[in-house]
Amino acid sequence: MQTENYTKHKIIGLVLTVILIAAVTLAFVNETARTESATAATEKISLQRGRQLYVDNCVTCHGSRGEGGVGTALNNSVLLKKASNDVLFATIVSGRPSTVMPAWGQAYGGAFTDEQVRDIVTFIRAWEPKAPVVEVGVFVPDAARGASIYEASCFTCHGENGKGGDDGKGGTLVAVNNSAKLVKNDDAWYQQTISNGRPAKGMPSWGSVLSANQTSDLIALIGAWRNGETVVSKTTAAQLINSALFSLQEKDNEDALFYLKRAKKIAFGPALDRFEPIIKNIEADKPAALTDLTSLSADWPIGDAVNGETIYVDACKSCHGGEGQGGVGRKLKPNVFVQDTTNADLFQFMLVGRNGTAMRGWDGSLTESQLADVIAFLRTWQQP
Ligand code: HEC
Ligand code: HEC
Ligand code: HEC
Repeated sequence: MQTENYTKHKIIGLVLTVILIAAVTLAFVNETARTESATAATEKISLQRGRQLYVDNCVTCHGSRGEGGVGTALNNSVLLKKASNDVLFATIVSGRPSTVMPAWGQAYGGAFTDEQVRDIVTFIRAWEPKAPVVEVGVFVPDAARGASIYEASCFTCHGENGKGGDDGKGGTLVAVNNSAKLVKNDDAWYQQTISNGRPAKGMPSWGSVLSANQTSDLIALIGAWRNGETVVSKTTAAQLINSALFSLQEKDNEDALFYLKRAKKIAFGPALDRFEPIIKNIEADKPAALTDLTSLSADWPIGDAVNGETIYVDACKSCHGGEGQGGVGRKLKPNVFVQDTTNADLFQFMLVGRNGTAMRGWDGSLTESQLADVIAFLRTWQQP
């Protein structure tokens, strides 16, 4: 009898326990669902606020669907996989110094509270499930680009090819391209020295002026010097002629001469004869200098049509046709745009191409003189 009674109690206890567990579980499941739907609602509001902030502040550079433009593509699975919300948050708050990407956080002088930046991050993150793969070109430091930066920022104090020498005022320039020093100091040392400078001794600090990529290009240049190489910069004669013209318009004859003499060193083709008379006229402060430099600047670069034909066949024919009759690309024989555009402007056009069309830019694949040759060849198709 006793045993039977206990069994009954045990069964009741067991049943009660099961009911209790079930009740607790049910309550827990309900609670999770309730919190989840609350979170979803908050996220939806955050996303809407983020969308509005994005539309008002970011589309001009990053595109209405995050496809990129002046700024990088943000609707990009490669980026979104790599960058956590914290990384996106930090980038938006502090911007990218030395690029046009502004700082948006109030701590950095921007307009947004932390909550607003989180809203934007929520909005950007929502692209992730359907984001396309946008391979962002990996940055490869380039000595020739470094040489262009060197010419613009370092040349005046460190001389041609970093060799130092006479400063033209009775003093000497500090050599950077000095084999003993180049062997003694490694890349990290140069990176630090360039970034920090030696302000007390007249070496400016470049850390807040040059971007990290630009500094890497300079380090690549210094690396090439260490290997005994001479690096030709990517600065075009067109750029130098432009700088000379600007200086002359500002009546700064000294700088005009500086730029024009450098341009002459890398200039080519039939227009080469036009430099020396202009240089003489600037030295003599004659007004003809400005007229002649203005027309040189519009005519530059003048190339060789015969070479240009070969380049055309290799690089342009597939889209514009063997006879310039057009195809994927426009008809070029004849072509009103070519007729109405100066050599200088056609050259700029060829460098960058036309955004959003199959007409790519040729910067980096055709040199200044090759582009000049192609332009000269296109001109032969414009004659009646
Ligand atoms: C004036 C143009 C401009 C505006 C406006 C702008 N950006 Fe940018 N943004 C850039 C550029 C350029 C870069 C790439 C910088 C670099 O070279 O590192 C960039 C980079 C970024 C990156 C890093 C991407 C990566 O590849 O690491 C994020 C995130 C970003 N921007 C978000 C925003 C948001 C959000 C807004 C609006 C609140 C905004 N940007 C507004 C120009 C802009
Ligand atoms: C206004 C003149 C000036 C400019 C511009 C300048 N430098 Fe210097 N730089 C100096 C002087 C002066 C020194 C030597 C400082 C000293 O006495 O220690 C120096 C030293 C250096 C050194 C250390 C050399 C060594 O072996 O001790 C490096 C590297 C260097 N500069 C690189 C650069 C680069 C790269 C740039 C351009 C981004 C640049 N400098 C622009 C004036 C300049
Ligand atoms: C992959 C195809 C392609 C190649 C290769 C190509 N182009 Fe084009 N090009 C185009 C397209 C497409 C356009 C028209 C773009 C547009 O819609 O505005 C164009 C436009 C032009 C124009 C402007 C014409 C006008 O009326 O606005 C010139 C000039 C030109 N190309 C020259 C060249 C030269 C020179 C080369 C070779 C170095 C070249 N293109 C190579 C596709 C190409």
